[in-house]
Amino acid sequence: MKIGVAKNKKRIFINFLSQDTEIHPLWLRERVTNSDYLDKNNGQRLYEPSKIKKNLKIKSALIKNKLLNVKFDDGVQSKFIIKDLINEIDQKNKKKNVTLWNSKLGKRPYFKFKNKFFNKKEGYKAYKDFYKFGFTIIKRVPIKKNYLIKFANLMGILRKTNFGTLFDVKSVRRASDLAYTSKALSAHTDNPYRRPIPGIQLLHCLKNDSEGGLSTLTDGFAVASYMRKKFPKYFQILSSIKIRYSYKDSKTILENWGETIELNTDRTIKRVRLSPRLDYVPVLRKDKLNQFYKARSMFIKLCNSKNFMIEFKLKPGDVLIMDNYRTLHGRTSYNMAIGKRHLQGCYVDHDSVESNMKNLQRKFNL
Ligand code: OGA
Ligand code: ZN
Repeated sequence: MKIGVAKNKKRIFINFLSQDTEIHPLWLRERVTNSDYLDKNNGQRLYEPSKIKKNLKIKSALIKNKLLNVKFDDGVQSKFIIKDLINEIDQKNKKKNVTLWNSKLGKRPYFKFKNKFFNKKEGYKAYKDFYKFGFTIIKRVPIKKNYLIKFANLMGILRKTNFGTLFDVKSVRRASDLAYTSKALSAHTDNPYRRPIPGIQLLHCLKNDSEGGLSTLTDGFAVASYMRKKFPKYFQILSSIKIRYSYKDSKTILENWGETIELNTDRTIKRVRLSPRLDYVPVLRKDKLNQFYKARSMFIKLCNSKNFMIEFKLKPGDVLIMDNYRTLHGRTSYNMAIGKRHLQGCYVDHDSVESNMKNLQRKFNL
């Protein structure tokens, strides 16, 4: 990508996909960085951009020493760092570093916790791997009840729900959710009935010496991509029918709607939702529902299959971090007569985590 100036110095072009596109004068004018126009503490505009005249023109432009010097015809003059302009224009085309995986996944993203972990380069690596694989496991976290509150607030900002700041994942009588029993949980994403859906789930293992109780993970994007290739009709159905998800107890009524496989406008996969315990498909034509039930069964079968699902046992001190928009999780059943199983869980949203990751990137110039 390259920025150039027309011979008459009155137009600026960006060469993009071997085509020249003119940069609109207003677009540049809104990026003026002179101290008179931006607050020096927060970089926010001190003027109302909608009041700039719509027929603003460039009086003259010049490129020198990696800077673009521009005089606008409203008297404003500014220098732009060309690299910053290109970075902004290119943002949409930057590929995210995402690796789809299945049960053959080799090296798993494990890290060892230490003091100030999320202020260090290793913390940055953990964030990167988390977004690359949709999960990571941080080992050697203090095995202390409620320590997860501290951990979550170091990693991002903890999101409280009606299950509390933390929820205890252990078997109780009259459980408000099947998670709080010793039953197996098939591959699922958490809480699709919330608005917004919690972005990231953390599970901190405090005790896990009962028989069974293995954790499972599945890359929902890998399964969705596989379905798009092998079963395009099913993919089409799962990515177009919006499902209602709901949760009710004596104090709480929650509801949200969304596709099993939600797509971006460019048809790439945005997120997956799967919660066979609390999904309600709307009434549709019988043949369409026939197709939906087949498609959902296929998705569920693949998500729980030996080809796509990994299984492992969490150890006390492990924190399993999962992207709840991409990765499905579950567990095998466990035997309450032998040993004990106790995890604590909570949610954190993506914005706070991405912010911390980008901060570390800036701090270490990575
Ligand atoms: C949950 C859950 C898994 C487990 O609490 O949402 O899926 O390992 N728990 O108990
Ligand atoms: Zn869950």
